[in-house]
Order: sequence, then structure tokens, then C-alpha cells
Amino acid sequence: MKIDILTLFPESFSYINSSILKRAQENGILEINVIDIREFSKDKHKKCDDYPFGGGAGMLMQVQPIFDAIKSVQDENSKIIMPSPVGEKFSVELAKQLSQEQHLIFICGHYEGIDQRVVDIFKPKEISVGDYVLTGGELPTMVIIDSLSRFIDGVITDESLTEESFSSGMLEYPQYTRPADFMGYKVPEVLLSGNHQEVEKWRKAKSLERTKQLRPDLLDKK
Ligand SMILES: C[S@@+](CC[C@H](N)C(=O)[O-])C[C@H]1O[C@@H](n2cnc3c(N)ncnc32)[C@H](O)[C@@H]1O
Repeated sequence: MKIDILTLFPESFSYINSSILKRAQENGILEINVIDIREFSKDKHKKCDDYPFGGGAGMLMQVQPIFDAIKSVQDENSKIIMPSPVGEKFSVELAKQLSQEQHLIFICGHYEGIDQRVVDIFKPKEISVGDYVLTGGELPTMVIIDSLSRFIDGVITDESLTEESFSSGMLEYPQYTRPADFMGYKVPEVLLSGNHQEVEKWRKAKSLERTKQLRPDLLDKK
């Protein structure tokens, strides 16, 4: 999959060049390009924002630099994503859907947001990462890319995906690693027993117990 990220703050994206996403790019599974919208500004000072018509607080990102930035990367396979508090709430289902696309273009808003004509012209998929407001679309873009990448073949193991929280409509069971005893806090005996059936039974029970306790709403959906 190819991903183009359009942003005024390219330096925010060092995260995508680390750990699992870095390996996916090195293995040719993912290609991620970070593109500075400022390069497309026709203003002599590379300005990309201006005051909103009608007044109000803050600055808005202008349509022209974003229009030209999108046109420089868009082709017939592109799907355009715009992180926004007004968008559809992000979910594991949406992450899976997006992981099937060939080319994603992310437009990162900043300041008070983006001139509405970007939405009117390109009809991007607007996605919210929650009912709160962030200062920019850079973090939501990284959240969405990180999450959808996990569903692309070869990025992580299939087993990791099936065992994960939300994959079966429930939260994951608690996990432990060495040492088996840390200051008297002991790992449950069953996990040390080597009895795979018992381990499986314990994990299912813990998964249910945890979901009931922390996210009972997930059980209502089943
Ligand atoms: C300060 S916000 C703009 C908020 C906008 N004026 C409003 O009230 O809906 C600036 C940018 O941050 C991003 N953003 C903020 N909160 C977000 C959220 N919950 N989900 C996705 N993106 C968000 C969007 O890219 C947005 O254009």
C-alpha cells in the first residue's frame, strides 16, 4: 500500500519511521511519503493559512495549497482521508476496510481547520479519533495509519491479530513475561503449567471477565 501524508508539520512524523512501520517499509509492504503542503503555496512567504470569512477565532488552512498538493499525488486508485472531529468515529472495522485500499492520501488539518471547499471538491472520508479536539490532524493520521497497517498482510503475524482486543468483540486477557515472581506479585500458576488446554480456558474466562468489568458495552453488541 502507498500512503501520502499532506501536512504543514512533516517533522511530526518520525514515529512512522520506527519499529513495526519502519520494518514494513523496509520490506516493501508499505510506502509512506510525508509531503509538506507549504511547498505548494503560491505566497512568497509560503503562507498556507488565513483569517476565516465572517470572523471568529484562529486561522484556517487555505484551499489552494491543499488542492495542488492533492493533485500532485492523486490517481484513479486514491482514497482521500481527512481526520476531523466531525467525521465517522474510527474503529477496528474501519481500519480493516482501509487496509484493503491501494493508495491513501491523508490531509492533516491544523489551527482552526481547513477551508470547507477542500471537502466540497474532493469529498474525502472524514474520520474522527474521538469526541475531543486536538490541535492538528498529525496525531490522528498516525493513529489511523498505525492501526490499519496491522491488517495488511505481512506487517504482523495473523496470530497477533486474532488474539488482540476487539478482534472477537472482547478485550484481550492479561499477559505476563519473566520473572514469574516480582516482589511477591506472582504469575498465575496455570500459565506456568504447560497445559495448553487449561491456558486457553483461563484466557477465555479472563477475557470475558475483563470485558464485563471494563467494557460491558462490547458484550451488548455481540
Ligand atoms: C483544532 S482542530 C479544528 C477543530 C474544528 N474547528 C472543529 O471545531 O471541528 C484542527 C485539526 O485537528 C484535527 N483534529 C482535531 N481533533 C480531531 C479528532 N477528534 N479526530 C480527528 N482529527 C482531529 C483535524 O485535522 C482538524 O482539522
